[in-house]
Amino acid sequence: MCPPTHFGVTYSINPWMHVGKPVDADLAVHQWETLRDLYLSFGHEVELIDPVPGLPDMVFTANGATVADGRVLMAKFRHEERAAEADAFRAWFAQRSFREVRDPERINEGEGDLLVDGGIVLAGTGFRTDIEAHEEVRRFFGRPVITLNLADPRFYHLDTALAVLGHGQIMYYPAAFSSASRDVLAALYPDAIIATDADAEVFGLNAVSDGRNVVLPQPATHLIGELRKRGFQPHGVDISELLKAGGAVKCCTLELRGAKPSGVHE
Ligand code: ARG
Repeated sequence: MCPPTHFGVTYSINPWMHVGKPVDADLAVHQWETLRDLYLSFGHEVELIDPVPGLPDMVFTANGATVADGRVLMAKFRHEERAAEADAFRAWFAQRSFREVRDPERINEGEGDLLVDGGIVLAGTGFRTDIEAHEEVRRFFGRPVITLNLADPRFYHLDTALAVLGHGQIMYYPAAFSSASRDVLAALYPDAIIATDADAEVFGLNAVSDGRNVVLPQPATHLIGELRKRGFQPHGVDISELLKAGGAVKCCTLELRGAKPSGVHE
């Protein structure tokens, strides 16, 4: 995670960002700290990257890389405004001993578009990540990659439209996908939780699950009910300030899969 010390909406690269709309910086920090404390209360370890002045979206660490089996594929950002974040994330990983840290050839925005579900990777494209990056992901991680086409600019990253819950379950918003991708998802996940328009519009799918606890924006009340019905423990959080940049819970969280605890990475 990255503290939102320099957070703000100083440019607009997605439909949620309105330059000039005030952001309460203290509230953003408070909301982010609440999220971090929640992860700690579940017994998870949280590692931090230092925020860089002039990079207001750096709080959205999910976009910095994709990590599986202790191997790291770095991000390459679509927009110039975020390009320098890649260097900061690369430096962070380089200072730790992950098994491999790879620079990408094609544009990919990390876990914004690349969601690991057990042995496979669900990969979004259409707005940010190049479709050609999906093949790179397949080669690097040696896992099957399922390409999913995003069709609604409000849901520009896969993690705004779909969340991996664990135990082979997902929740998603069908209207965010092309009709062919909707068919793929329906075939792969016939029992998925289907988000309503209202769930999706409050970023309810921008959620983090550890297989038991699911953290998501608290206005996503329908999803919270569905998760509870299926035996998950949902935790609604107020993430209003970060939403002004088009990000929520998952965006603030990069999962270090296969990393050794306490900063010792093999
Ligand atoms: N303002 C950021 C952007 O548009 C938000 C990124 C949200 N991150 C995410 N994983 N969806 O790039």
